[in-house]
Parts: sequence; structure tokens; C-alpha cells
Amino acid sequence: MKKLIIAIDGPVGSGKSTVARRVAEMLGYIYVDTGAMYRALALKARPKGMVLDSDDDLARMAADTHIDLRNENGAQRIYLDGLDVTSAIRGPEVSQAASKIAVIPGVRRVLVAEQRRVGQLGGVVMEGRDIGTIVFPDADLKIYLTASAEVRAERRWREHQQKGDSINLERTIEEVRDRDRRDIERENSPLKRAEDAVLVDSTAMEAEEVARLIVLLAQEKQAKS
Ligand code: DC
Repeated sequence: MKKLIIAIDGPVGSGKSTVARRVAEMLGYIYVDTGAMYRALALKARPKGMVLDSDDDLARMAADTHIDLRNENGAQRIYLDGLDVTSAIRGPEVSQAASKIAVIPGVRRVLVAEQRRVGQLGGVVMEGRDIGTIVFPDADLKIYLTASAEVRAERRWREHQQKGDSINLERTIEEVRDRDRRDIERENSPLKRAEDAVLVDSTAMEAEEVARLIVLLAQEKQAKS
């Protein structure tokens, strides 16, 4: 049976990661969280004063960095130059820094090349902002996952609460809006729905329902191929 490339794009808090991980699990595919790659790079850039570094320096840094997404006991772990940064990349500051670093064309070029290398053989569920538009414009199945801004912010806020981060809901809504704006309005590879992407609104859906829907769509694609 053909091993598909499944692209899932969408804004912050749309449920992409949970859904993509579950779809990969159900199909026996590899799960690739491309946001984690931007986050890992942002984490590396921060102590060096990212605001001061030029775009060229950051692009060079991207080329000199080794980011590894490993599946360990069913969970994905992220290694930055050999160091496990799985938890460190999830803080709100790194979220903001990642969306800032993601506007730099030289940085995107390096990470997109790596994403293509990882996914080219198929059997992959890759999630991000530009997977169906730029990374794999010929992906077998494209999903654009979204939800209302309030529901997305609330999901993010709950995640922070569970991790013990003290951040209030109003501030989370602001941060989600900031990141949305930056991700949608940037010149290079902005977040947008590919014309042939299936639009799924998860405002009133559980992640499991969304994942099942995507698996059904994938099976339909496979039956036709
Ligand atoms: O999905 P995430 O929240 O972990 O992503 C962090 C940031 O990385 C996000 O604000 C925008 C950027 N990103 C991107 O520009 N392109 C991708 N394919 C994935 C993430």
C-alpha cells in the first residue's frame, strides 16, 4: 500500500500536534513536528541575544545546528546539538522567539530542506504552517486545521497550567493573537490554507474525532492510488 505524505497545517492551538501524533500512530507513520525545529533553533539563538544577531548570522547558525526528532517509547523527543531540549522549547518565551526566527528566509531554507529530506519517502505525518504549501506542495493529503481564537488560546492556557507555568488567560489570548499575526502576515511562507487542503474546524471536536476523520481520508486516498 502506498505510503502517503500527510501535511497538517494550522494556527497555534488548533490541535495539530495531538492530532498529527495520533494519526501517525494509527497509520504506523512517522510523526514530524516542524514547529519543534523552529523552537529548538530559537532556544539556541536566545542566549546569544537573538534580537542583536543579523538574519545572516541566524541563517548560518541554522546551517550549523543539528536538530534531531527521535521517537523514544512512543513519545517524540527533540535533541539540539545532542542535548535533549524537549521541555525547554515549550515555554511561552520560546514560542514568541520561534515565530520571530521563522520569518527569516535563510532559516526557513535550511529547515525546509531538512523537512523534505525526512519526509520524501512517505509514511509521514508532518505538521506546521507551510507543509502543504511549501515543504510538500504535492503531498498526498493536506489538512488545514483550525478553531476559534478563544478556544485555541484556552487550549494553550490549559497546557501551560498543567505544566505549572503561571500565565493568565488574557495574556495567553494576546500571545496567540500576536503569533497568529506574525505567522499569517510574514512575507516568506505565511500560514495559509493550500487550495487543495481539506478545511477542518476543531472548535467543537475532540482531537480523537479529528484524527479518525483524517485516517478515513488517508484510507480513501490509498484506495484510489
Ligand atoms: O507549531 P508551533 O507553535 O510549535 O510553532 C512555533 C513557531 O514556529 C510558530 O509560531 C511559527 C513557526 N513555524 C513555522 O513558521 N513554520 C512551520 N512549518 C512550523 C512552525
